[in-house]
Amino acid sequence: MWVFLETERLVLRRFTEADADNLFGLDSDPEVMHFITGGRPTRREDIVSDVLPAFLRYYESFPGYGFWAAIEKSTGEFLGWFHLRPRDGSLPDQPELGYRLRRSAWGKGYGTEGSRALICKGFTEFGARRVFAETMAVHTASRRVMEKAGLTFVRTFDRRSPYKIAGREQRDVEYALSRSAWEQQEAVG
Ligand SMILES: CC(C)(COP(=O)(O)OP(=O)(O)OC[C@H]1O[C@@H](n2cnc3c(N)ncnc32)[C@H](O)[C@@H]1OP(=O)(O)O)[C@@H](O)C(=O)NCCC(=O)NCCS
Repeated sequence: MWVFLETERLVLRRFTEADADNLFGLDSDPEVMHFITGGRPTRREDIVSDVLPAFLRYYESFPGYGFWAAIEKSTGEFLGWFHLRPRDGSLPDQPELGYRLRRSAWGKGYGTEGSRALICKGFTEFGARRVFAETMAVHTASRRVMEKAGLTFVRTFDRRSPYKIAGREQRDVEYALSRSAWEQQEAVG
């Protein structure tokens, strides 16, 4: 296995074309997709024709950045993914952090563990100057992962999602962490 990053309990590795079923399983859980599509699953044919090819393209366009499959070391199981990637039209030194984990993996600190490791990699190896993340204002778990990874609240805004999700009216939030603030956090421990 080509290991990109190892944490205490996780291995982050590249996606391959063999991951279609892993992604399909992940996106088939309405609870996982609740704050993303209102619970709608992703069709397997869309994973094969769009989602997975887009994941694979990142490795070529932005060495280091992209989507990383999270594998639980103790079981070898696919837990989901993390991304650290420049968003369309945004600068390579200002990547966006994101994550999607299987429900069975929630509440064990994995979201925080993978995010922290990717942020460290971004600042120390890929030249990131600012990492940001976005979620719905009502998505407490995602906001908490951002906070525990060291990001702080920047603004409330409207992403204009096409999906009707409860709490939509409370809009979306952006969190961010600059390299200098991260260095200070690391120095303090
Ligand atoms: C968001 C997500 C990645 C969180 O991952 P996780 O591994 O459960 O997070 P952690 O275990 O690292 O927990 C981080 C913090 O969030 C809190 N938290 C986790 N789930 C929570 C929930 N449902 N409600 C409130 N707080 C929650 C944890 O208690 C912890 O805070 P604490 O240490 O102060 O108690 C996970 O819920 C997920 O994959 N959700 C589905 C996909 C998704 O919504 N992705 C984000 C889109 S913006």
